[in-house]
Amino acid sequence: MANRKVIAVFGATGSQGGSVAKALLESKHFAVRALTRDVTRPNALALQKLGAEVVKGDLNDKASVEAALKGAYGAFVVTNFWEHFSKDKEVCQGKMVADTAKHLGLKHVVYSGLENVERLSGGKLKVPHFDGKGEVEEYFWSIGVPMTSVRLAAYFENFLTTWKPWKAPDGDFYTLALPMGDVPMDGISVADVGAVVSSIFNSPEEFIGKAVGLSAEALTTQQYADVFSKSLGKEVRDAKITPEAYEKLGFPAAKELADMCRFYQMKPDRDVKLTHRLNPKVRSFSQFISENLGALKDL
Ligand SMILES: NC(=O)c1ccc[n+]([C@@H]2O[C@H](COP(=O)([O-])OP(=O)(O)OC[C@H]3O[C@@H](n4cnc5c(N)ncnc54)[C@H](OP(=O)(O)O)[C@@H]3O)[C@@H](O)[C@H]2O)c1
Repeated sequence: MANRKVIAVFGATGSQGGSVAKALLESKHFAVRALTRDVTRPNALALQKLGAEVVKGDLNDKASVEAALKGAYGAFVVTNFWEHFSKDKEVCQGKMVADTAKHLGLKHVVYSGLENVERLSGGKLKVPHFDGKGEVEEYFWSIGVPMTSVRLAAYFENFLTTWKPWKAPDGDFYTLALPMGDVPMDGISVADVGAVVSSIFNSPEEFIGKAVGLSAEALTTQQYADVFSKSLGKEVRDAKITPEAYEKLGFPAAKELADMCRFYQMKPDRDVKLTHRLNPKVRSFSQFISENLGALKDL
């Protein structure tokens, strides 16, 4: 253990970082240094039990990040837009980590990036939780940090929360409101991302300097609905909602998510084949739902 190279994992108490920390610990190729703002959190203590070193690291505190990255070989970096809903703040945090990684000479950073949709669409679409990550991706590469960006498809886990089927008010069926028209949307369980990232850390020569789109599979809204119907034994239909109607639903990120789906309809590059090569156990949506029926028991 003592002579294993250290990978610092941001967001280790959360979904992405937690998945990455667990996969790295299981593979035993690297030692894991898990970062959190609160080292007493149950998720942090659970990682410690699995063999991780848990240290304090706050993306709003450069000194803590510098101390946490010192001596590390590499880092997995994820920032959480949804904690503050600010593109500027997410860019500021990402660039600070990039500068620190450069200064300390890290050998491989895997950054959870996404496309700069605003730029790619010539300003027509605005998806701040993508746009800021796109800006940070470019910054990492522009200052010469050896970095791989992983651009995740939508989590399958979203279908247990934000995109859970709704009971139709006027019938004995449920509807799935995903403004994708007939275009397939890529998805992946965030729990399966860790093994992909672990494989990327094992092949730096293949992946440094690249952006890799991750997806378990791409299904149309009707196909997602069909999986629900089959697994739940209840009829779930595509609500056939348009992005225009979706953005009027009135919840805080409705406009942003409508623009995200408009962007998804342009089919950004998510590589199903490569994802399966990097994690042969990556689950299909059908497998994912059948393993998570407990979260849908109130339907
Ligand atoms: N949902 C999707 O479909 C999807 C798809 C692609 C990308 N994403 C992106 O994924 C990101 C969220 O990742 P997640 O799902 O893993 O989130 P999560 O489960 O909510 O976890 C958030 C993590 O971020 C850490 N964190 C937050 N603020 C921090 C700070 N100031 N300093 C240090 N650590 C901080 C938290 O650690 P502590 O609280 O322990 O400090 C926690 O571990 C978002 O930016 C989103 O855009 C989501």
